[in-house]
This record gives sequence, C-alpha cells and structure tokens, in this order.
Amino acid sequence: MENAFILLASYLLGSIPFALIVGKWGYGIDIRKHGSGNLGGTNTFRTLGKKAGFIVSVADVLKGTLAAALPYLLQIDMHPLIAGIPAVIGHCYPVFAKFKGGKAVATSGGVLLLHEPVIFLILVVVFFLTLYVTKYVSLSSISAGVFSVVFSMIFTEDKLTVILMAGFALFLIYRHRANIVRIYKKTEPKVTWI
Ligand code: G3P
Repeated sequence: MENAFILLASYLLGSIPFALIVGKWGYGIDIRKHGSGNLGGTNTFRTLGKKAGFIVSVADVLKGTLAAALPYLLQIDMHPLIAGIPAVIGHCYPVFAKFKGGKAVATSGGVLLLHEPVIFLILVVVFFLTLYVTKYVSLSSISAGVFSVVFSMIFTEDKLTVILMAGFALFLIYRHRANIVRIYKKTEPKVTWI
C-alpha cells in the first residue's frame, strides 16, 4: 500500500508539465505548437529563450529528484531509482497534458542526482562536451544516457543500480527515435550558441 502510494505520487509529480505551464502562463504560448512540439527544456529554450528554458530544465530535474527522495522522506524501504521510474514515465506521458510530454532527459537526470550525484555531475560534463562538438542537443542527451550506464558500472558496486540505469538509458534512447532518424537524414536542428 505504502509502495503503491509512492509510485502514484512519483507519477503525478513527473506529470507536472512545467514546459506547458511556463509557456502558457509566462508567455501566452503553447510550446507543443512550436519547434519539436516536445514538452521539455530544449524545446522551451528553442521557443521561449534561455530564461524560460533554464527554469523548465531545472524544474524538470527537481521533480525527478523529489520523486526519488520520496522513500527517504516517507521512511519507506524502496530503491530511489525505482521510486523515480514513474516520475520519468509521467514526464513523458503526463496525465495533465494528454499523455504527450518530454523525452526523459532532465527528469531521469534528477532521479540520478539524488542517488548518484557524482555520476550526475560527470554526465553534465559529457552532455556539454558532446554538445560543443556536435551541436546536437538530442545526441548529447543520448550520449549522457549511454555514459550513465558506463559510469554506473565503474563507480557503483550495486548491480541493481546498473540494471536500472540501463533501463533509464534505453527508455531515453527510445524517446529520441525521431531525433535519431533526423540526425541520420541531417535534418536535426543544431544549436548555435555553443
Ligand atoms: O531533452 C530533449 C532533447 O534531447 C531533444 O529535444 O526538442 O530537440 O526533440 P528536442
């Protein structure tokens, strides 16, 4: 019962569509009708600029962190990465936004931030290094996802963490399948600011 409560609370937290809220209430713009249509930090940057993109990215990270912290906060025995899974699913398929949300990057990062903060920080570096070299945000997200598995194999002894990290990474790659096709066809937009 307690476990079900955490999983439900985590899903509802992840479902909060910050990109939609900031776009509609701060700028009068529904970002689902702009750019990639994705309800995430990248499309908010693209559509509404740096300030809105930063706010949405941080909020999307923190909802993942809070979801993963629920077992600690409620003193219930559950692996934080497992508590974070429904938040990531909620971010991608939000009940509050017709089940069309983001691509799992920031919220997965937030879950990882709570459980493995050092790996999270290294992955931020991996993300920006990839972005600097390729100018593709989506490829940088995928690269961080792949290296999250490599680094968890190197830095943790906990096999469950590695298995769960691999699950998060595979789901992230699955959510980027349209981006992968666009990169292959050379039609994926590049960023110009880095
Ligand atoms: O965080 C999502 C990013 O990796 C890709 O977003 O809007 O370019 O599809 P987008």
